[in-house]
Amino acid sequence: MEKKELTDKINKLKKEKNAIVLAHTYQNIEIDEVADFSGDSLYLSRQAAKTDADIIVFAGVYFMAETAKILSPNKTVLLPNVKAGCDMADKINLKQLREFKAQYPDIPVVCYVNSTAEVKSESDICCTSANAVNVVKSLNTKEVLFVPDQNLGSYVESQLEGVKVITYPGYCPIHHRITTQDIEKQKALHPNAKIMVHPECKKQVTQLADFVGSTTAIIKSVKESKDKEFIIVTEKGVVQRLERDCLDKKFILINEKAVCGSMKLLHLEDIYNSLKNNEFEINVNEAIAQKARIAIDRMIKVNA
Ligand code: 13P
Ligand code: SF4
Repeated sequence: MEKKELTDKINKLKKEKNAIVLAHTYQNIEIDEVADFSGDSLYLSRQAAKTDADIIVFAGVYFMAETAKILSPNKTVLLPNVKAGCDMADKINLKQLREFKAQYPDIPVVCYVNSTAEVKSESDICCTSANAVNVVKSLNTKEVLFVPDQNLGSYVESQLEGVKVITYPGYCPIHHRITTQDIEKQKALHPNAKIMVHPECKKQVTQLADFVGSTTAIIKSVKESKDKEFIIVTEKGVVQRLERDCLDKKFILINEKAVCGSMKLLHLEDIYNSLKNNEFEINVNEAIAQKARIAIDRMIKVNA
C-alpha cells in the first residue's frame, strides 16, 4: 500500500474505533504522521492517563504500553509488535529488586519508568528522564535506591546536594556505549556545536554536555536556542525530528550506532494491522497493576 493510502486508512480506523496513537520520539519518523501525541516517556504517560479514547495504540516499547495499561485499566492498549522490548527494563526482575532492597533496608526505591510492571509494583515511586531529579527531591530523604539505570541515578545525584543515590547496575546499551572519545571526536570536527546529552549516558559523558535532558527536553532546548549546530547524544530518532522541524540548524548524531532496534521495529503497516486486528493487546495482572499504579500516580503528581 502507498504511504498516503495507509495513512488515510489508519486515520479512518482511528475515528471508527475511537483510538489514539501515542508515539515515542525514537520511533521511525513516518509514525509521527498518524500519531496523536509524540514525545518523551513522561508526556506519553500523561496522555495515556487522561485520554478519553477507547483504544491506545502504543508506538513504543513494551514497558510503555504496560504503563499505559496500568494508568488506563479500562481501555484497550495495543502494542503493534510484542517483540519491541527494552534492554534496560530487562536488566532487573522482581527477585533481583528484592535482593537489592534487602541489602539496603528502609530506603525508598525510585524506579525509572523503563522497567517491568512487577518492578514498578515493588517500588515507592516511578520517574522518567524528564522528572527524575524532581521525583527524588520530592521524597525529601538523604538516601534513595535507584533502579535499573545507574547512569540516570548518578546524574540525579550530581544535581542534588546531600542526597545519596544508590544505583542498581543496569543501563541502556545504546546510551551506555557512548564514550567521551566519541564526544571529543565530534567536537573537534564541529567546534561550535552545542552538546545535547540524554541522562542515560555515562557520567563522564553528561559532564561534557552543554545540556542534559529527556528527548522532548533536548528538542525543546534546540528549538529555543539561538545556536545553529548541535551534537545530539542520544538515539537517532531525535536527530530525524530535529532535521524535519529546524531547517536552519545543523545536527550531528553522536555515532551511527545510536539506534534502538526495538524502537525501529514499527512501520505504518504495523500500526494499520494493529488497529484493524486489535493486535496485540497488553494486559497487566490486576494485583501487580494496582501496586504499580501507586508508584506511577505519585510520579505524575510531581511537577516535571
Ligand atoms: P525519554 O523519556 O527521554 O523519551 O527516554 C525514554 C527512553 O527510553 C530513552 O531510552
Ligand atoms: Fe530501552 Fe535504550 Fe531502547 Fe530506550 S533506547 S527503549 S532505554 S533499549
